[in-house]
Amino acid sequence: MSQVTVTEHLLLHQKKSPMATGRFTSLLTELILSAKIISREVTKAGLVDVLGFTGETNVQGEKVRKLDEFANNVLIHRMRRSGVLCAMASEENGDLIHISGDLPRGDYILIFDPLDGSSNIDVNVSIGTIFSIYRRPLKKNGETPSMREVLQTCDKQICSGYFIYGSSTMMVYTTGEGVHGFTLDPSVGEFLLSHEDMKIPEQGRIYSVNEAYWNSWDPATKEVLAYFKSRENALGKPYSSRYIGSLVADFHRNLLYGGIFMYPSRILDNGERQGKLRLMCEAAPMAMLIEQAGGMATDGINRILDYQPTELHQRVPLFIGSKNDVETVRQIYLKHQ
Ligand code: AHG
Ligand code: MN
Ligand code: MN
Ligand code: MN
Repeated sequence: MSQVTVTEHLLLHQKKSPMATGRFTSLLTELILSAKIISREVTKAGLVDVLGFTGETNVQGEKVRKLDEFANNVLIHRMRRSGVLCAMASEENGDLIHISGDLPRGDYILIFDPLDGSSNIDVNVSIGTIFSIYRRPLKKNGETPSMREVLQTCDKQICSGYFIYGSSTMMVYTTGEGVHGFTLDPSVGEFLLSHEDMKIPEQGRIYSVNEAYWNSWDPATKEVLAYFKSRENALGKPYSSRYIGSLVADFHRNLLYGGIFMYPSRILDNGERQGKLRLMCEAAPMAMLIEQAGGMATDGINRILDYQPTELHQRVPLFIGSKNDVETVRQIYLKHQ
């Protein structure tokens, strides 16, 4: 394995990039330290009292687990003091998290899913942390940004990535110059470059979806599924089905092997359609990564990165992965329109 750390990689390979600044580097350094702390706690799950629920329900209507709360607190505590942010938003918090006036502030906005795949925490299955970074449009000398300044078109992200707490802990990120993966070497406590310039195969062989929602899908979505199971598809045989229930882990596997992750909208009892995944803290950061890796991300038809969010916790259907597969889904949806 190489000896190149995330910061070295950023400085060595992106010299021309506006990202290679001291302030951006300190943002990433704080984020990495937060992830190391979360990773340490995840590894101890079962030994210390971090399993189970807190008894609270979050803004998403989900029961909060102790590790969701722990990860959220670590990120808020550390990133608030990083001196480079003007606001944060988390899956777990209803409103923007402001940086109080007595702390140094900067121009970056950080949006995160502190612990993704939390239903897998108690059973030792891979989970992750997702992050997305924007710059506020106009410098305002440390003033608190308005919601409008935070709700930027998803293609305005300047960096996104995730940490995956799996058989090893990894960081995968992009600043718009390719996707790079680093593996945590626990003996030295550093993330070292292990996967440079990751590219997803153009044609996948895996589909990942929670098929138990079959009865609440529309005919187009059912046709999509029939396509992946058929022998008359681009692969000439049924795809393999793999679904972990942690977006980060399902995405990471498909990024390496080729495949498509799908969370289609469901038709609710009142006839409304609803996606589950959150645009700003889940879909958009993953969409930036997949495009940088040569893949595609849509809501079935429209590009995720073209979305202009209207609210912080907006949900969206998500189809993300190998280009051929996401494009095929798009053609099927267009035919049904
Ligand atoms: P989170 O744990 O951050 O709330 O995210 C859970 C998400 C995502 O990770 C996963 O892909 C999806 O929910 C699983 O949902 P289902 O259980 O409905 O399949
Ligand atoms: Mn959740
Ligand atoms: Mn999540
Ligand atoms: Mn989460």
